[in-house]
Amino acid sequence: MKATAITSILTLAFAGLASAYPSILEHLEAQEASKKASRWSLPFSKRQAPGVIPPFDAASQYVSTSGDYAFVAPGSGDQRGPCPGLNAMANHGYLPHDGVATIAEFVEGTGKVFGMGTDLATFLATYGAIMDGDGTKWSIGGPTAEVPSILGLTGVPQGISGSHNKYEGDVSPTRGDLYEYGNDYLVQLKYFQALYDLGKDDDNYDLTTLFEHRKNRFQQSISGNPYFFNGPLTGTVVIPAAYTFIYRFMANKSAEYPMGRLNGEILKSFFSITGSDGDFTYTPGHERIPENWYTRNLVDYYTIPYYSIDANTMALAYPEFLSVGGNTGTVNSFVGLDPANLTGGVYDAETLTEGNNALCYGFQVGVQALPDLLEGLFTDVDAAADAIGAAVNQATDSLGCPQLNTVVKGQFDQYPGYAKLKSDGTY
Ligand code: HEM
Ligand SMILES: *[C@@H]1O[C@H](CO)[C@@H](O)[C@H](O)[C@H]1NC(C)=O
Ligand SMILES: *[C@@H]1O[C@H](CO)[C@@H](O)[C@H](O)[C@H]1NC(C)=O
Repeated sequence: MKATAITSILTLAFAGLASAYPSILEHLEAQEASKKASRWSLPFSKRQAPGVIPPFDAASQYVSTSGDYAFVAPGSGDQRGPCPGLNAMANHGYLPHDGVATIAEFVEGTGKVFGMGTDLATFLATYGAIMDGDGTKWSIGGPTAEVPSILGLTGVPQGISGSHNKYEGDVSPTRGDLYEYGNDYLVQLKYFQALYDLGKDDDNYDLTTLFEHRKNRFQQSISGNPYFFNGPLTGTVVIPAAYTFIYRFMANKSAEYPMGRLNGEILKSFFSITGSDGDFTYTPGHERIPENWYTRNLVDYYTIPYYSIDANTMALAYPEFLSVGGNTGTVNSFVGLDPANLTGGVYDAETLTEGNNALCYGFQVGVQALPDLLEGLFTDVDAAADAIGAAVNQATDSLGCPQLNTVVKGQFDQYPGYAKLKSDGTY
């Protein structure tokens, strides 16, 4: 799937509102015109199957950190936020240094630096553009004059730092839960330390280690955050990705470890952590691509079907992760919603870990929350919801997800962590 496909879907979704959304359409057209064929998006036929050990080719997998791509710390006004991957890309000139980029720039940059599949990058970037941006571009940190309000939006886009429960979720690997820490985009050193401790014996951070870290963080949210909400989409698609990305993207690939090996030094570099074990220092926004670091092979991009395999493995190991729900105002009061209830019986607890269901379910329950999430952002909520729905359909097409027709509403209102977002301005 190409970025173009989503763009035309967006154009269609917004077309009926051409008069209300002239700026969005202008942006979409400009973006279309500037799109150039990218060597970072191999057609599916040239890719190998997900999970197969890839070849290693040092020359094409080396990621430059010199010249145009030398590290430059963010200056005043430059946006950095909850995503270490995007922060590092902006610091190294693989995204605009001010931290504001278009959908096409996100797709190209994440492919080039990390080997993110065009399908996955297009979905993530499009979701950001609608939820946290102006429909075409968005900030990797907070609001900025670079992304002003335009006709059709009710206010100033908040960027992904101001996106709690819309994009940013509870139980992030190292970021704190918003209502526990007052922000959701800074590393909490104790969580970084906890992750570091899990892999330090053999200096190796693999998926098993990361899933265990998520289990611990999940439990911490239940027992520490009265407002913990394991949201649709955030808890079922975004947060699990935040964990798998750490190994799949940050790991250093080599002839010896073509799937990648992630050690503590590389982890620290990407998370902007310096100092030694037990005495770490975090410098917000200074995420670095390590010197002499190798990314994924061109035939082995991390696509949505690849991510689905990982999401499924994670759900089999810890089924509670798929429990959409939350605490009900006190700690240790977690109530999970019944998947059958949420989906009118399309999914149930037993079938959730079969095939691609874990990710399909995540995407599809995510759609249910959209009208609520978009309220207050757009003058015409339905059009925006349609645009995201179309992006979700593109994403789920390759997974062969079951058809979900019934949308069950009103299930999330019992959770104060969810309700807060509706009554609390930008959150
Ligand atoms: C267009 C592509 C991307 C988008 C839109 C995106 C967006 C986000 C968002 C909204 C979050 C906050 C989620 C949360 O923790 O609540 C996040 C976290 C994260 N992202 Fe990205 N991201 C993208 C690409 C990447 C890439 C290429 C990497 C590569 C390493 C990456 C690694 C991570 C990690 C590890 C976290 C969790 C951070 C933590 O808790 O410390 N992301 N991303
Ligand atoms: C990545 O692996 C190669 C081969 O083992 C090694 O030379 C290089 O230093 C590693 N990079 C990092 C950042 O550790
Ligand atoms: C779903 O749950 C609600 C209340 O939590 C209940 O009223 C409704 O009957 C349930 N629907 C199904 C299909 O189980």
